[in-house]
Amino acid sequence: MSSDLAIAHQSSPRPGLKIPGHIGVIMDGNGRWAKARGKPRTEGHIEGVNALRRMVELCIRYGVGHLTVFSFSSENWARPRDEINFIFSLLRRFVASDLQKLIAHNVRVRIIGAREGLDDSLRRLIEDVEAKTARNTGLNLHVAFNYGSKAEITEAVRHIARAVAAGELLPAEINEGTVERALYTSGIPDPDVIIRTSGEQRVSNFLLWQGAYSELVFVEDNWPDFDEHTFLRVLDEYAMRERRFGGVEVARQ
Ligand code: IPE
Ligand code: IPE
Ligand code: MG
Repeated sequence: MSSDLAIAHQSSPRPGLKIPGHIGVIMDGNGRWAKARGKPRTEGHIEGVNALRRMVELCIRYGVGHLTVFSFSSENWARPRDEINFIFSLLRRFVASDLQKLIAHNVRVRIIGAREGLDDSLRRLIEDVEAKTARNTGLNLHVAFNYGSKAEITEAVRHIARAVAAGELLPAEINEGTVERALYTSGIPDPDVIIRTSGEQRVSNFLLWQGAYSELVFVEDNWPDFDEHTFLRVLDEYAMRERRFGGVEVARQ
């Protein structure tokens, strides 16, 4: 398996596919993938990074505009310290090994999540990655790291309350746009589809506001097994969904 990002430009996407503008992924099942093979959970996380590379390649090849991946949740602090340290070290290793390729492939990287609780060197790394890719205009890769929707919304409420207390905003002026602009994802379109791997059917505090109208697709594969075949199955499923946004069915042309 390739250990770095190798974008295959030669294969052309299948005609007739409906490509979502924004895909969110709850990358779940690394531990079970490892356990099924008699390996430590850490091996599952390593393979999970390889699956992430595959997913980035696929999104570039198929012309997906935004990819948001859930890589560490605000609730994952409940895990053993060793596992947390390992996941954090993987983020560092991913940046070290893949940043140049991401830049070469015009990928803009943003890390969404709470910066509190991260040590200074990790914060600097995140700022560096964001700055070095800020002018890229290809795939937008959003890494949800130390991310939880409830914490995000709570922080947004605090931010808005401060503006009200400072006399900069009237309560009556607060609308959905005010809230959206106070989220980590300000300016990023909502996900069209949210995929969760490993057969679990819950959202685990991922993009609760932004995913209000996302199509949810649950796949049985554990995240390390996610490949082009799975990706195309998800796109086929997505193409069959009728998105109404509260309206009524629009006659197909
Ligand atoms: C997803 O895989 C990765 C993270 C949550 C960091 P898990 O580590 O949750 O794997 P399972 O769900 O235990 O199999
Ligand atoms: C969700 O997976 C978080 C990430 C994929 C980073 P979890 O494995 O933490 O979710 P639960 O605990 O099964 O809901
Ligand atoms: Mg899990």
